Parts: sequence; C-alpha cells; structure tokens
Amino acid sequence: MIEQLQALQERALARLQEVAANEDLARFENWRVEFLGKKGELSTALRAMGSLSAAERPLVGQVVNDVRAALESAYTAAYAQCLAVVQLRQEESEALDVTLAGRTPFVGAEHPLQKVIRRIEEIFVGFGFTVEEGPEVELDYYNFEAMNFPKDHPARDMQDTFFVGPDLLLRTHTSPVQARTMEKRHPQVPVRIIAPGKTYRRDDDDATHSHAFSQVEGLVIDHGVRMSDLKGMLLAFARQMYGENQEVRLRPSFFPFTEPSAELDVRCIYCGGSGCNTCKQTGWIEILGCGMVHPNVLRMGGYDPAQVSGFAFGMGVERVAMLLYQVTDIRQFYLNDLRLLQQFVGLIR
Ligand code: DAH
Repeated sequence: MIEQLQALQERALARLQEVAANEDLARFENWRVEFLGKKGELSTALRAMGSLSAAERPLVGQVVNDVRAALESAYTAAYAQCLAVVQLRQEESEALDVTLAGRTPFVGAEHPLQKVIRRIEEIFVGFGFTVEEGPEVELDYYNFEAMNFPKDHPARDMQDTFFVGPDLLLRTHTSPVQARTMEKRHPQVPVRIIAPGKTYRRDDDDATHSHAFSQVEGLVIDHGVRMSDLKGMLLAFARQMYGENQEVRLRPSFFPFTEPSAELDVRCIYCGGSGCNTCKQTGWIEILGCGMVHPNVLRMGGYDPAQVSGFAFGMGVERVAMLLYQVTDIRQFYLNDLRLLQQFVGLIR
C-alpha cells in the first residue's frame, strides 16, 4: 500500500508538471479534483485503509498525510507560478504605449441643410419669433382644408401628394403648422412663429426637384399687420442672410391661403443682376412664397379677420442652401456623399 501511495505521488507530480507547462489555470482545478478532491485518488486510498491491521494503519496513515502535504504544497507553488506568468502576459497585452503618435479623431460636420435651417432660425429668433414644429405625417385637414384648399379645389393639383390613408398624407408643405399654431393659440396675439421641417411631394427627382425637401414656414398675426411689414421683414432677413446690400422684390403670385400672394426674389447673388445661368438671365432668384393670411384661414384658426391680420411665408431650404453654397444639384443633399459633407467640417455658416 505504501508503495502504491508513493507511486501515486510520483504520478500526480508528473501530471502537475504537464499541467504547469500548459500555462492554463483551468487545468489546475481538474488536477486538484482528480488527486486531492473528495472523490480523488488520495481519498480513495484513505478509504481503503479500513481493511488494514491496527499495526499498519498509523504507518500508512502517516504516508497518506505526507503524500497529501507534498501534493498540496507542489500544487500551491505551481499554481502561484502559473498565475504570475498568466497575469504578466495579460498586463503586457493590455499595456498602453504612451509614446505612440495620436490618431486624429474623425470630426463630423453639421449637414448643410441643417446649417441653413439653424441660420434662418437665428435670424428670425432675433426678430422675436419662436420655433414651432408639426408632424410630417399630417391630416388632410391641416395640410389642405385649414389652408383654404377645399376638397376638390383645383389648387390641390399644385402639390402632388403622397397619401398614407384617405385623410392622412405626408405633408406637402410646412403651412399646416400655421393652422396647428392658430388652433393652439387663438385668440391670443401676437403670433410670431417659424416652423422648419421636412416636406414631401410626388415629384420625379432631378437636379432641381426632390420628393423630400425642407421648408421654413413663417406666420405673424397681430392687430394691424400690413403687407409693408411683410416686405420690410423679408428685406431685413435677406440682408442678414446674403449681405447688407441685398436687394429684394415682391412679385405677384397665387396661393389659396394668402390674399394677396407674392413671391420674393433676391437680386442674383452670383451676377449681381447682370444676368447669368443661375438666374436664367433674369437677374433675380426666387426664394420664397408669401402673402397676407387669407381671412378664411384666420377664421378657421379661430381668429376674427375684422380684428386681426397676418402675413405668412414659406421658403425652400434647399433653394437657399444651393445659392449659399453653390450646389447645383439638389440630390447632392441627400446622397450622404462624404466628399460633399466634409467640405462643411469646421464651417460656422
Ligand atoms: N406652402 C407654399 C408652398 O409650399 C409656400 C408658401 C407660400 C407658404 C405662401 C406660405 C405663404 O406661408 O404665405 O409652395
């Protein structure tokens, strides 16, 4: 029995060396269970002692204890050594080389359309306007009805619409935010809001048309608001946007929700008015539609057109951005081409 125990010790130590050579901490546990565990070889040997004579028992018991002590101390030493090696290797692999040259982090840029919207907002907030928002999926009522397009009115043809349901659509302009604001605020005056946002029309995309585009709506309601107020404010806006000497003109137009209606042209910012391809030799470039809020629109919004009046305008953000940044194809704004976007890194405006 004693020889068996000594053989066991030798075998166990040999295996421990193999385990240690593997430098894998999990294998140490397997070894421990196999040789020192409750069901391990040494415990089995200990149980076999029951069959020994009273004289042999203390002798063999002593050897069992010696073997256990030898295995335990060998195990502890080998495990500690292996742990040190594994930890060192891990630390080395996680080490930071503080002498390495830094990598420049990628800096994103505000999208040119977002930049323009922010600039427009800044200008109008400076005039005392607040910023409103409305849903892109809109009710027919707000998009058309409340904007004085009765059902079957031919002016609905001006705006090819994506319908989502019988009375639900992707808004074709930001004008419904006018109706929503009036509904919320009436009969309070003054109302001075702008509403930037996405709009959608069933257009075939080309260099100047996109089925998704952006507008900034404006609405002012107060006592005694006049067309000259509209013109003065748009002139002030154009001068902040394009420069101190910017000229503008109002040209008669038609919108169902304004009467009278007009479009605002700015002097061509490229040729200064002498005529070029951008302004199609006219010397002027249209940037927005506007007018005095139609009495029907005021009435539907809960205001009394005998008491208050208002003006409104709606501008195409892409149009403004194309002029400002000399982008010639509207699709550029939606392609997410980094070569375009990176040109705006670090630009404030
Ligand atoms: N909603 C018009 C459009 O999308 C633009 C517009 C014109 C808005 C005149 C207005 C306005 O508020 O008064 O074509």
